Amino acid sequence: MLNWDEYNKEESQVAPAIKNTVPEAPKHVEPVAQPEPEAETSPATIEAGSRAEAARKAMETFDASEGVKELDEMHNGRVQVDDKAMINCKADLNQLVPFKYDWAWQKYLDGSANHWMPQEVNMTADIALWKSEDGLTDDERTIVKRNLGFFSTADSLVANNLVLALYRLVTNPECRQYILRQSLEEAIHTHAYQYCIESLGMDEGEIFNMYREIPCVAKKAAWGLKYTQQISDPTFQTGTTETDKQLLRNLIAFYCVLEGIFFYCGFTQILSMGRRNKMTGTAEQFQYILRDESMHVNFGIDVINQIKIENPHLWDEEMKNEAAQMILEGTELEIQYARDTMPRGVLGMNASMMEEYLQFIANRRLTQIGLDEEFKGATNPFPWMSEIMDLRKEKNFFETRVIEYQTGGALNWE
Ligand SMILES: [Fe+2]
Ligand SMILES: [Fe+2]
Repeated sequence: MLNWDEYNKEESQVAPAIKNTVPEAPKHVEPVAQPEPEAETSPATIEAGSRAEAARKAMETFDASEGVKELDEMHNGRVQVDDKAMINCKADLNQLVPFKYDWAWQKYLDGSANHWMPQEVNMTADIALWKSEDGLTDDERTIVKRNLGFFSTADSLVANNLVLALYRLVTNPECRQYILRQSLEEAIHTHAYQYCIESLGMDEGEIFNMYREIPCVAKKAAWGLKYTQQISDPTFQTGTTETDKQLLRNLIAFYCVLEGIFFYCGFTQILSMGRRNKMTGTAEQFQYILRDESMHVNFGIDVINQIKIENPHLWDEEMKNEAAQMILEGTELEIQYARDTMPRGVLGMNASMMEEYLQFIANRRLTQIGLDEEFKGATNPFPWMSEIMDLRKEKNFFETRVIEYQTGGALNWE
């Protein structure tokens, strides 16, 4: 193998020719002991030469037709739209187009157009407030710490589920493209939480271990983890009714419950702080994250519904009941989290208002995947949350977001 010594040696070999064409003024040079020049057939030279020669010869005789034939046998050549399917698809997944699910590609474009980074948010006011003696009540401090504790690891759990479990099993390239985009966004979210924790000078060990040590946080993490474990085994394959249902359970657990319910109490609490001009940098980070998460949830729901359309036998009464049960379990855990983080009223909200909000969100998750509402008449006590993350006008909300991001202006708190 070539190394820098040999590089310098080669250069010194051509140096005399240059000296002959550009004469230099004589100057005093201390004599330096020169090593004996190596013989041209040194072991290193032979090795490097023979490897390059071997590579050249191998490529002269390399027959690409074998590999192409194998791809053809695996995937039947050029992909047609009708060959594509959400799961158990045999068509070539390296061919992004023709698109079958335009909504997935559009979400990839929208997500990419809304790129942001945590360092762009000014944290100065938060640092001053966090360090001041009387800037925040104990209840407000608990809320900030618990939420950074939950989210700092929750987004890693989501990212792990995407890249270690889900990506392999979703057999559609435009959806995979969005999953890759989402994975990057989850990394940015984890970065944002770390950025807040570091900026505020918190005890990192305490915060990052809350998902193990604080029961209301640990329960939510453990509930999600069991659905990753089911399908992250590298030998796990879909293709039977039961294994396809396992994948569907994972999608419901992560998109409808983890990202669709477990994030909502914490987001509402932190954004409520921002509206009251407290922890505005942290709240701005959460606002950007919430908008990404809104897109993640909508993508996941589209994937779930598409799988149902393509595989109606999976969506039997048993599966419907199971899906509803999962969403209601998640709602219950999030209500417990609300009570634990808000033992008293704080920030113009209390645990019972949050309970109604979570019931409102749960109804929405149920109906989004074709199930009946559970909590009749539940209304949204925090309409300002919908303004930040409009649940229905996804397009408008992203148009607004792009403008805000590109102008680099501060977000407005009503
Ligand atoms: Fe996230
Ligand atoms: Fe997410």
